[in-house]
Amino acid sequence: MNAIEIRNKYLNFFKNHGHAIIPSASLIPENDPSVLFTTAGMQPLVPYLLGEKHPEGTRLCDYQKCVRTVDIDEVGDNRHLTYFEMLGNWSLGDYFKEESIKMSFEFLTKELQIPVEKLSVTVFAGDEDAPRDEESARIWKEAGMPEDHIYYFGKDDNWWIAGEEGPCGPDTEMFYDTGKAPCSAECNPSCDCGKYVEIWNNVFMEYYKDKNGYSKLKQRNVDTGLGLERMNMLLQGKETPYDTEIFEPIMTKLKELAKVDNLQSRRIVAEHLRSSIMIISDGGRPSNVDRGYVLRRLIRRMTRHLNKLGIDLNELENLILLNIDVLKEMYPELQDNKEKIKNILVEEKNKFVKTLAHGEKEFEKAIAKAKQENKTQLDAPTAFRLYDTYGFPPELTKDLAQEQGFTIDMDGFDKLFKEHQEKSRQGSEQKFKGGLADQSEQTIEYHTATHLLHKALQIVLGEHATQKGSNLTSERLRFDFAHPEKLTKEQIEEVERIVNEQIKRDLKVTCEEMTLEEAKKSGAMGLFENKYGEKVKVYTIGDFSKEICGGPHVEHTGNMGTFKIKKEEASSAGVRRIKAVLIKE
Ligand code: ALA
Repeated sequence: MNAIEIRNKYLNFFKNHGHAIIPSASLIPENDPSVLFTTAGMQPLVPYLLGEKHPEGTRLCDYQKCVRTVDIDEVGDNRHLTYFEMLGNWSLGDYFKEESIKMSFEFLTKELQIPVEKLSVTVFAGDEDAPRDEESARIWKEAGMPEDHIYYFGKDDNWWIAGEEGPCGPDTEMFYDTGKAPCSAECNPSCDCGKYVEIWNNVFMEYYKDKNGYSKLKQRNVDTGLGLERMNMLLQGKETPYDTEIFEPIMTKLKELAKVDNLQSRRIVAEHLRSSIMIISDGGRPSNVDRGYVLRRLIRRMTRHLNKLGIDLNELENLILLNIDVLKEMYPELQDNKEKIKNILVEEKNKFVKTLAHGEKEFEKAIAKAKQENKTQLDAPTAFRLYDTYGFPPELTKDLAQEQGFTIDMDGFDKLFKEHQEKSRQGSEQKFKGGLADQSEQTIEYHTATHLLHKALQIVLGEHATQKGSNLTSERLRFDFAHPEKLTKEQIEEVERIVNEQIKRDLKVTCEEMTLEEAKKSGAMGLFENKYGEKVKVYTIGDFSKEICGGPHVEHTGNMGTFKIKKEEASSAGVRRIKAVLIKE
């Protein structure tokens, strides 16, 4: 069996069980700012999980293109991928645990013919928010799962929510036993040793979580997700997804072209190339902010590892075409977007190459010096020079440094970055007066204006008016937010007044790094894609706004000009869209 056969089997199976097959949504979510990319099959379906009627009915299934970036630094090992395909089936207030578990069991054991001894499942152990899921355990047992293959775990393992707020619930996860020896007497499916691999997750979504805790949803849903690359790898008895037909042709080609044998680099190239192709095909473009920046990082990292392998960078074009060839049966849209994908990728690579060569030399020199001085940290001025002069994003410097056993002074870097920003802001104001606006500075101002707008909307409309999307250019901001109806003229004027008041107050913008928990406690808005324990940046604008955000922002609000809302319109059900500009004298 190969990936496309598994996908077809899955969709047919659920179709035969009364599900409508819906198309994969774009990797770039139109109206959801809470994530940079579509990260799960349920994401485009949130309104329907909350009770809106789906035109295709109450039973749906699909394959969904997904990108998760939290693990980007892990890519190159034997399992982490940034792009993956999720097979999913949903009950929107239709069936619940009984039917869901029975269908999963049947699909795994009959359709995919996985012997039941190879399967284990986990269910929610219960806590103060929701009861112990004995019902799921019973259904598994009745379906044929041996009792000693059923495990109970707490929220860390058996509760699913996308981000911090939204529909959620206990889940039951299915695991495949690779047959490896247990790592200890306690080895079980929640163990990370590699014996058990998670293959499918059925979430019994009957709760909604917000700042105040959990409440029951209007309807009981089921949301499931099965990782296709992983299932494909297991069914083929392969150790990694790179050994399957999805990656194998590219991996072989890379080995053929490489002058240096480095498996990790070959995997990073193969993985990032596939992700970049998929993102560009869905409309992503490299840039310095948000998802564009993720794409830029993917392409730069891929380029760097091509270099590491000693592969002529002119080969990239052929590698792209080969990869599209490999993937086009699964994603026919790639064929139509081929030229676009190739041009954007090659152009971005060329841009990077120009700076990379110089930068790497500088980097080597700096490391050699640091080694002589018996240091283990690369100082901030060096990291900043690499950024400023050679276009090295700090993550790249960090990556390179790590490879040599060095850390970099990130705090120092941030400080220099801010000083630099302030200088270039002043500079750009000068230039602006002369009619030569610096694009990136403008975009930064719009970024800060977006935070002011978000807060002002919450003041005027209420706390429900949370961000649902954002898009910045150097000429305007676009902001989508939750609100059920058209804003009145008075509301628009009030929002403008509040934003302009904050600009006039010349508020200082500060940035602090903290863990997600600390950020939450500090009352920061926007919890987005981050994970517990992860460090996030919190930008504070005077006493007015506090938001988790990657930045960058202006240092002071005073010179941003006059904020004016140009348009207010519907974006989708329950979501409004504002377009606004900053007018400078
Ligand atoms: N939404 C669930 C997941 O992503 C199924 O695991």
